[in-house]
Amino acid sequence: MVRRLCDETDARRLLNPGPVAIVTTMWRGMANAAPVAWTAPLSMAPPLVGVVIHPHRHTADMIRFSQAFAINIPGPSLLKQTAFLGSQTGLNTNKLEAAGLELFSGQQIEAPLIEGCLAWIECGLQDVIAIGDHTMFVGRVVRVQALDEAYAQHWLLRSRQYSPLTYIGGTRYAVVGDPLEAVIEVDAQGGLVLESAEEREKREEEEARERELRKIEGDEGLAEMQD
Ligand SMILES: Cc1cc2nc3c(=O)[nH]c(=O)nc-3n(C[C@H](O)[C@H](O)[C@H](O)COP(=O)(O)O)c2cc1C
Repeated sequence: MVRRLCDETDARRLLNPGPVAIVTTMWRGMANAAPVAWTAPLSMAPPLVGVVIHPHRHTADMIRFSQAFAINIPGPSLLKQTAFLGSQTGLNTNKLEAAGLELFSGQQIEAPLIEGCLAWIECGLQDVIAIGDHTMFVGRVVRVQALDEAYAQHWLLRSRQYSPLTYIGGTRYAVVGDPLEAVIEVDAQGGLVLESAEEREKREEEEARERELRKIEGDEGLAEMQD
């Protein structure tokens, strides 16, 4: 294994895999949408979330003018539409229509919500913070909806279809998956037990099964060669 020195700007991509948020906005009867990979939960009470957007994006102006935005979280079925919304500005075109997306109304804000997503977060604008060459728009969460199949206090990740899309960089995306349960056990000295007795037993059983399988395959191969 080689530990390679990366560029300082690689930090952003290494931190990427949160769910992609499609930020929808509405102002003076015009709706817009843009995917945003840089998002952050910021506070529980009051419930605040942040979306980090370059000030040149039309979405940045739409949020400032309308004082609100919605976060729509897509699954893999909206992969192409997500990439399309990020490929051009909505300043002079209705990207939502061009992407063939169906919308439904938010209850607390004017920004439309995207049909076919897995979850929706409606926000009023709480704060605007300039950070380097981007701007953090802090949203005061006013309403949250999620599909039963996708979410129950946490992402369920039971099936690909109902798991959120995450952005890797360039044209690469992934589906969040393979949930793991972290059960922590410490020994008498307070050190982390990396493998519990139960986990060791399971691993040894699996290893024995694999050895058995390889032996059978080897025996069959030998028999074929002798035929
Ligand atoms: C998957 C994906 C994630 C993106 N994440 C961000 C982001 O976090 N912040 C940002 O300013 N732009 C981000 N972009 C770029 C904007 O979505 C893109 O510039 C978009 O066309 C802006 O549209 P607008 O001008 O209509 O707001 C992302 C693009 C893609 C495809």
